[in-house]
Amino acid sequence: MEWDLVRQKVLLEDAVVNLNCGSFGPTWRSAFLHAANLRSVLASAPMDFFLRLVPGELERARRSLADWVNHPWRRLFFTSNVSVAINLVAKSLLTSGFRGAVLLTDLEYGCMRWCWESLCAISGAELRVVELPKFPKDSEEIIDAFREKMTSSVKIVFFSHIISATGMILPAREICSLARNRGIVSVVDGAHGPGFLPLDIASIGANAYCANLHKWLGVPAGSAMVAFDEGLMDRLDPLVVSWGYRGYCNQPAGWDSRPLDSPDEWGGTPRLRRLEFQGTQDVCQWLSTEATLQEWDSIGPDNVFSRQRKLSDYSRQEMAGKGWKAWTPESPEMHGAMTAWELPRTWNLDLVRNWLRQKYRLEVGLNRLPTGELLLRISNHFFTTQSEIDVLIRALSAPRAGLEAEMWEFQ
Ligand SMILES: Cc1ncc(COP(=O)(O)O)c(C=O)c1O
Repeated sequence: MEWDLVRQKVLLEDAVVNLNCGSFGPTWRSAFLHAANLRSVLASAPMDFFLRLVPGELERARRSLADWVNHPWRRLFFTSNVSVAINLVAKSLLTSGFRGAVLLTDLEYGCMRWCWESLCAISGAELRVVELPKFPKDSEEIIDAFREKMTSSVKIVFFSHIISATGMILPAREICSLARNRGIVSVVDGAHGPGFLPLDIASIGANAYCANLHKWLGVPAGSAMVAFDEGLMDRLDPLVVSWGYRGYCNQPAGWDSRPLDSPDEWGGTPRLRRLEFQGTQDVCQWLSTEATLQEWDSIGPDNVFSRQRKLSDYSRQEMAGKGWKAWTPESPEMHGAMTAWELPRTWNLDLVRNWLRQKYRLEVGLNRLPTGELLLRISNHFFTTQSEIDVLIRALSAPRAGLEAEMWEFQ
């Protein structure tokens, strides 16, 4: 594969080394253009856009995505990001009558933990935490940690498929299966899932799999999804009450009594419209999903995943060679495109970020764990090059005390 040529298909600022796709992913050129063309129709002929163009485009986007992630299209709707997706599911589940505990891990993405914390406080639910083994040898250790905490009072389990700060892949299928056997609802934060690993939602078996399309997949920003199952479908409520909540206005009596899962004239079903439609908004990014997936299929997703792994292995070997400590497990089933490295705890996150950006034009992920460790995270997507990784390795090669002094020059 001519990766230098494939890289040209992605909008990337040449002057910046982007090793932080894990925070915000760049967009495919073709998807960007598709969305931009649609936006010009939206701007110039809004009636045509919303009433005549969106429904067909939305249906194609939904069906192509559903096929790609192996989930029925009638059980999948778009949101603007995974935060909205998770808030919607959490709020639907933690109604005022909820009794029991919600279980999540100690390494959840900070604001998603806040989401559950705040809703638990309102509903009176108890929040319980699974401490993940920090340096697990295999996924059995993770499964054991969940099994131990899944007691009879736990009613919901929430976890990240890929831990944001460390890049560790959790055994989602096994955790969901443990939950199902105990009657626990499983909600997966798949913020990094699509485009990071081969995603087969049917085989994971979560009640809800919430995912970003704008990180690793390369759909323009503002694109995410919720894939839900039959067990959850009647429990989901929209975050925003809009048209769709009770069908369409001004229609003859009986019009709204259509089956909730039958195809409608809006590119989905009455059930999906109720959950998805939030009033007038720009949805052109959702509509460029098909253009995005065509790019993936033209390269071959497996080629992308094996390239990511090769680059990850390269970063691992180089960083470890310089004495940095890895926080991403080595076991193949537990790591993919991201590796994370422990920096001295005393280093200031913002100083490190400014120093790397200003001196080396380099972007990396930086995360402070709740336990105080500062982690540097390298995202290795297919467009990353070894020479870009080398820029980071060179930056981190000087003696650590010298680096700290240097950072202050760039505060
Ligand atoms: C695990 C995880 N969950 C949720 C989010 C939130 O994503 P967004 O800001 O797109 O909603 C992120 C973003 O990095 C993440 O890594």
